[in-house]
Amino acid sequence: MGAKRMRVLVTGGAGYIGSVVAEELLQAGHQVVVFDNLSRGHREAVPKNAELIVGELADRNHLDQVFRLRVIDAVMHFAALIEAGESMKAPEDFFRNNTANALTLLEAMLAAKVKLFVFSSTAALFGNPERTPIEEDDPLRPTNAYGESKLLVERMLAWFHQIHGLRYASLRYFNAAGASRPDQGEAHQPETHLIPRILEVALGRTEHVNIFGTDYPTPDGTCVRDYIHVSDLARAHLLALHALEDARENSRPLIYNLGNGQGFSVRQVVEVARKVTAHPIPVIESPRRAGDPAVLIASSEKIRRDLGWQPNFPDLKTIVESAWQWHRIQPDGYRT
Ligand code: UFG
Repeated sequence: MGAKRMRVLVTGGAGYIGSVVAEELLQAGHQVVVFDNLSRGHREAVPKNAELIVGELADRNHLDQVFRLRVIDAVMHFAALIEAGESMKAPEDFFRNNTANALTLLEAMLAAKVKLFVFSSTAALFGNPERTPIEEDDPLRPTNAYGESKLLVERMLAWFHQIHGLRYASLRYFNAAGASRPDQGEAHQPETHLIPRILEVALGRTEHVNIFGTDYPTPDGTCVRDYIHVSDLARAHLLALHALEDARENSRPLIYNLGNGQGFSVRQVVEVARKVTAHPIPVIESPRRAGDPAVLIASSEKIRRDLGWQPNFPDLKTIVESAWQWHRIQPDGYRT
């Protein structure tokens, strides 16, 4: 099943999740072409055996050339702006980068007759969910422009499937975290995500971590999230790709939530990091960040059932330990 050797175009393959998936694809025997503008990604994060093309997704001519010069069997689309907080300051950047660029990519794929697509989607689609854990068919009502920019892509994909026969998977990540190896990890600039921000304090780079909001309707007043190890996320991409490849022409889209089904509050994450790092990690209670839903916890039963996915690292301590190893060994990320 899914044994065919494929050549996969990985947009955003120089980024945190894309680079880990690129590595896994290579290990599974596939060929990888990374397409990245390196605005957020890192050349050093691209696996050595992958081809790297530096380019802009908005550049349709360049994309056409990429597809013309190689036989591409599938596209995995990671390239995007990801900071929900930023999207509430400059939504236009998110609709341009995440929505408009996805459309250009899909048009280029159609022209090149590439039919398999794996989309990097997000829990931010759900906004403030009505129930927990969240299932795939629950209402999609993003509370930030980031989530909306990705929801619009999911909507386009449904029409491309119906009208053009595109076979796609949309993987809705909850909070990706951890490192796949001590030399491959999260290196955003600037860093806004909770776990790396906490670890910057443990490294002595900043003095405290801000807790954004302590008056949420949650047990300790801080936001609750479902943290998932990046390697577990990566494996889901391979399972999805192989399932798409095996599927019949008119098979239904594969839409899956990806999390561990367990929520941790911001304070609980800080507590786990204190244990892992043996650092006191001072916190400052700060106002809410715009657009943050109170609780996001996934039900991943569907992907477990359909594709046999199972997390290898569901434990938050293990996730934080792997991130801590990476940040301690490479405190400057990929910068040398
Ligand atoms: N937080 C803090 N202090 C910080 C950073 C974050 O209190 O310094 C809080 C946030 O307010 C939020 C929680 O920690 O409540 C997690 O925040 P992150 O920024 O780490 O992650 P988000 O939940 O905002 O968003 C992440 C990804 C998105 C993805 C989303 C899905 O950035 O791409 O998870 O849940 F869509």
